[in-house]
Amino acid sequence: MKVALVQCKPVFGDRDGNTERLISSCRSTPADLYVLPELATTGYQFVSAGEVRELSDEITSPRIAAFAAAARELDAAIVFGFAERSGEKLFNASLAVLPDGRAILYRKTHLFYKETLYFHPGDTGFPVFEFRGARIGMAICFDWFFPESFRTLALNGAEIIAHSSNLVMPYCQRADFAAAVQNRVFIATVNRVGAEQREDERLEFTGESVLVSPKGEYLLRGPRKSEAVLVVDIDPSEARNKAINPYNNVFAMRRPHLYCT
Ligand code: ACM
Repeated sequence: MKVALVQCKPVFGDRDGNTERLISSCRSTPADLYVLPELATTGYQFVSAGEVRELSDEITSPRIAAFAAAARELDAAIVFGFAERSGEKLFNASLAVLPDGRAILYRKTHLFYKETLYFHPGDTGFPVFEFRGARIGMAICFDWFFPESFRTLALNGAEIIAHSSNLVMPYCQRADFAAAVQNRVFIATVNRVGAEQREDERLEFTGESVLVSPKGEYLLRGPRKSEAVLVVDIDPSEARNKAINPYNNVFAMRRPHLYCT
C-alpha cells in the first residue's frame, strides 16, 4: 500500500483555497492512502468559538464533497482534518473519504491548549476502517500524548494510524518510535509547516511529518519548514504479528486486570 504524507501550509481562513491546494498536492503523486494535517482546510489558531463556527463545515459542505470527489478521481483514500459543525456543536475532526463513497468521521478526543475553549471534546471513539486489505485507524495530534489513543486503535486492529497533526512541540515525531514499537503498528504523523500570528500570540508548527514502521524504522521524514508530499510503499500485514519472539506476543500476554483503568 502506497502511503502519502501531505505536509502543507494552510492559509488561515481560506477554506476553498486550502481545499484546492490540498487536492492538487494529492494529484501530484500517486498513492493508495493520503494523510493530510489537522484542520488542514481552515488553519489552526482560532480566536473565538464564533470564528470556528464561521469557518466550520457540516459533513454535507461543498468542500467535503470536493475531497470525496478527489478520492473517487484518484481511486484512493484521503484522510484530512477540518473544523466540523454538527448542530450547535463544533468539533476538531478528521474525515476519511474513500473511492467507494464511504466516509469515516473521527472527532478529536484530547483537545490541546485553546482548542478546549472553542471545540467540544470528541465523542466518536477511535475508528478503524478497512481499505485495500489494510486496517486504518484515525487520531488527531495531541491524542498522541495519551498512550491509550494509539493502544486502543491497535487493540481494535489498526495496522496504520493516520495521525493528522498541527504540532507545536518537538516531542511527537520522536515519541512515535515508542508508540509504533509498543503497538507494532505503522504510524503516519502528518504535520503542517509555517506559523500563525493571531492577535498577540504566534504559533510555529514543527513540520517533519514521519512514517514509522512497527519495528521503529523511520521510513519517511519530511522537511522542517517547507511543504512536501512524501510517499512510501508499505506492507500493512507487518503490523499483524504482535510476537517479538516465540515467547512474547505483546498483545496476547497483556494482563489488563493488573492495570489501572
Ligand atoms: C495539537 O493537538 N494540535 C498540538
